[in-house]
Amino acid sequence: MKRLLLKNIGLLTGIYPQDEGPKCGEEMSHLCQISGAWLLIEDGRISGFGADSDGSLPSSFLADSSLEVMDAGGGIVLPAFCDSHTHIVYAGTREGEFLDKLNGLSYEEIAARGGGILNSADLLRKTSEEELYIQARARLQEMIKGGTGAVEIKSGYGLDTEPELKMLRVIRRLKEESPALIKATFLGAHAVPRGSTKEAYVEKICSEMLPAVAAEGLADFVDVFCDDGFFSPADTARILEAASRYGIRPKIHANELAVSGGVQVGVRYGALSVDHLERTTDAEIEALKGSKTIPTMLPGSSFFLGIPYGRAKDFIAAGLPIALASDYNPGSSPSGNMRFVMALGCIKMRLTPAQALNAVTINPAYAMDAQKEVGSIAIGKRANLIITDKIPSLTFIPYHYQTPVIKAVLLGGDVM
Ligand code: NIG
Ligand code: FE
Repeated sequence: MKRLLLKNIGLLTGIYPQDEGPKCGEEMSHLCQISGAWLLIEDGRISGFGADSDGSLPSSFLADSSLEVMDAGGGIVLPAFCDSHTHIVYAGTREGEFLDKLNGLSYEEIAARGGGILNSADLLRKTSEEELYIQARARLQEMIKGGTGAVEIKSGYGLDTEPELKMLRVIRRLKEESPALIKATFLGAHAVPRGSTKEAYVEKICSEMLPAVAAEGLADFVDVFCDDGFFSPADTARILEAASRYGIRPKIHANELAVSGGVQVGVRYGALSVDHLERTTDAEIEALKGSKTIPTMLPGSSFFLGIPYGRAKDFIAAGLPIALASDYNPGSSPSGNMRFVMALGCIKMRLTPAQALNAVTINPAYAMDAQKEVGSIAIGKRANLIITDKIPSLTFIPYHYQTPVIKAVLLGGDVM
């Protein structure tokens, strides 16, 4: 058995037992932590931790010569980030549209000209599964280096049965081969493909695509882009109804471009999360109260598209949990840097560092149903950890947001 002792930890933070529930409302402001700590990893999982008061370790460790020891150098040790919303399986890039955007076109205008998601779909169909895998793996590796240890990945650039299955097989291979924990989401309803009507495509999703996805067991979740110009709440309900027959839970794109009704339909179908929420009224906050659905905001896409940031503080004041994710995709957020997401949570959404840390670790772990494995420092969970340089405080991480403070990332106890 491989045993690794992390010693000389300045601050061990984000300590929550398995299955305690997401952090809601006021709880989001608190972090359970130990100043001056050690942590033991056995076979890739956290098997113990405690205070080292004066820098001294339990005597049983000192006598144990089989123990590998790593010195954290007085840095902070925190759970690796969980990114509960990404689209990292895509072909090529969309730099041309970036230039269109700089010339004044909005996301909707680019999509209406046949660009956007349809542009990525054209390219994806021409790209082999192997090549797609290579490109997605490179993005995933970059995210891991940045401190991310769990990633939800969506399909949605195939927009037909075979290319959607191709994307989901790429995600399955990432699941098998990456040290990060991966969850797969079937997002057939990302856009209406060229040459089809919305009605015909929704019918195809329900009667052909979902059954094929379910038959291969390729999706943990189902998603619909429920927004202005894409899919309506009624389309969404139809798709979620069909998915529920296979026991596939929803995670919904809602309220990015308009107050879409997506939050309400998501809650009605027991969605694990409703994501984006740049445009929300009090009605959406009310709808989420008492539900198990985690409101998830994607400040990287607000930043990149120049659209409003979600009302994170209002959701928290209403006693709700919130999660933050990167939305890494070629059109609205070409970055999977969760440290930047955390900084935007503080700088633009006025979250405290504690709220922001909970929003990028434990709460997104729940939003991707991975809380038993990741998202906190807990005995039995995977040793997915970030070790920082010796820095003045946790606040320094979002405050000095570009100083490269991450000294090491451990996934399953291995240094990445
Ligand atoms: O979450 N909003 C829909 N889907 C993505 C964008 C996808 C794309 O433009 O390629 C998003 O922002
Ligand atoms: Fe998205």
